[in-house]
Amino acid sequence: ARLVVLVSGSGTNLQALIDASTDPAYGAQIVAVGADRDGIEGLARAERHEIPTFVLRTAEFEDRQAWDIALADKVASYDPDLVVLAGFMKLTGPAFLALFGGRTLNTHPALSPAFPGMHGPRDALAYGVKVTGATLFVVDEGVDTGPIVAQVAVPVLDEDDESSLHERIKTSERAMLVEWVGTLAREGFHLDDRAVRLGPDHP
Ligand code: GRF
Repeated sequence: ARLVVLVSGSGTNLQALIDASTDPAYGAQIVAVGADRDGIEGLARAERHEIPTFVLRTAEFEDRQAWDIALADKVASYDPDLVVLAGFMKLTGPAFLALFGGRTLNTHPALSPAFPGMHGPRDALAYGVKVTGATLFVVDEGVDTGPIVAQVAVPVLDEDDESSLHERIKTSERAMLVEWVGTLAREGFHLDDRAVRLGPDHP
């Protein structure tokens, strides 16, 4: 399967996918990495592995809609089977979802539907939960609301701060992402309401 990965930050999730996909048996190859900003480690990781990259900054477009259309076009030019948002800090819009809805995955560092949005680990700490985790889901129009592919639970320790908790979550998040992207790429999948079912779309 052909994979386009979108990033905004350090790209450790991207790196885990790059490492996994060096094995042809993994079933997915990263054909491009896109970002919404320059100068991030995620792009550097792609460049080190000679994966094509592109950057589309929202500020360069008249409005969000124009950016969304450009993103959809750019991603489509790589003809991916799957798109993975790996720490991509922008909401994809209607034009993007019209092309890639149902085959775009995202990870969220909390156990959905708890603590959606930008600060999953911080919000979990503030609430005082003893268990949080990460969620892999199929992107829809909402914020971290799409059909759930997989979740992993992670303990919250008394001595945690936001960063130590997020790092513990990310370790489990990367393993989950790598496992499930491989499975979905090899076996195909389709949505049955909110259920994510393995196997081809039209059996
Ligand atoms: C991940 O925890 C992701 O879920 C969140 O931001 C983090 C990205 O980390 N939205 P990285 O850029 O893959 O290292």
